[in-house]
Amino acid sequence: MRVLLTGRNGQVGWELERLLGDVIATDRSSLDLSGDGIAGLIREAKPAVIVNAAAYTAVDKAEAEKDLAMRVNGVAPGVLAEEAKRLGALLVHYSTDYVFDGEKPGAYGEDDAPRPLNAYGASNLEGEKRIRGSGCRHLILRTSWVYALRGHNFYLTMKKNAGRPLRVVDDQHGVPTSSRFLANHTVALIGKRAEGVLNLVPSGETTWYGFAREILGPEADLTPIASAEYPTPARRPRNSRLDNARARRLLGPLPDWREVLDDVRKSA
Ligand SMILES: NC(=O)c1ccc[n+]([C@@H]2O[C@H](COP(=O)([O-])OP(=O)(O)OC[C@H]3O[C@@H](n4cnc5c(N)ncnc54)[C@H](OP(=O)(O)O)[C@@H]3O)[C@@H](O)[C@H]2O)c1
Repeated sequence: MRVLLTGRNGQVGWELERLLGDVIATDRSSLDLSGDGIAGLIREAKPAVIVNAAAYTAVDKAEAEKDLAMRVNGVAPGVLAEEAKRLGALLVHYSTDYVFDGEKPGAYGEDDAPRPLNAYGASNLEGEKRIRGSGCRHLILRTSWVYALRGHNFYLTMKKNAGRPLRVVDDQHGVPTSSRFLANHTVALIGKRAEGVLNLVPSGETTWYGFAREILGPEADLTPIASAEYPTPARRPRNSRLDNARARRLLGPLPDWREVLDDVRKSA
């Protein structure tokens, strides 16, 4: 089965390339999702599966670069979807918890109505809509708070600042998800021929403060603060917990986010 992967140098793409084995793996230099070479490359490669792990992921910067974020996360997935449709290929794509506004008291299911609060979320929602509208076979995996031992992420930021007093937001709720967890289960879901929209996160939930505490341990000098005390260019939902019940029905029990974090630590 010929697989084409985008975003090979990203947190998730890096893991996927190693798992998928024989794969046409692209990066920004060989396939720029903000450019117009997408259709040509897909037509030449003729993959049976396209895994789109590339994305514009700078949530705050996206407020000042709305057009670029929309081209990469909104328009490009639509082009990939049109090409997948032409080829009869499966398009696997990642989306985000930030398509939701955070007003729901509980965890978000796949069918809850999205209402993004920021440009990054809006660009992802546009990507979802274009993929669904294309009529291609697709698997859209919504995930949240992605981290790994490489790349830019909250886990590495906390590790870098270990030993210093830190103030960490404690009123945004979500599910930390390692890139390895995502890659492993993505491959399993492709094997099971899963399609549609699926929340793919570990079990359980926490806040950024809870995540920081788990990363740095009970002795770390951490102060929980409200989002209002840490203003950012992009508004973030207070609750972006994703319900993984549908994924569990397909994959079996999914580990708690703390177990996933332990696995990442052990692999260091
Ligand atoms: N990170 C999160 O917390 C998070 C949360 C929810 C959902 N997601 C979704 O999960 C997926 C994987 O995210 P990730 O954490 O692995 O992201 P990441 O580490 O930021 O990697 C994204 C990759 O996309 C590439 N890229 C950016 N713009 C591009 C362009 N114009 N053309 C081609 N490639 C481009 C980047 O290339 P360079 O290396 O050259 O910059 C990078 O390798 C994405 O769809 C993301 O939206 C992520």
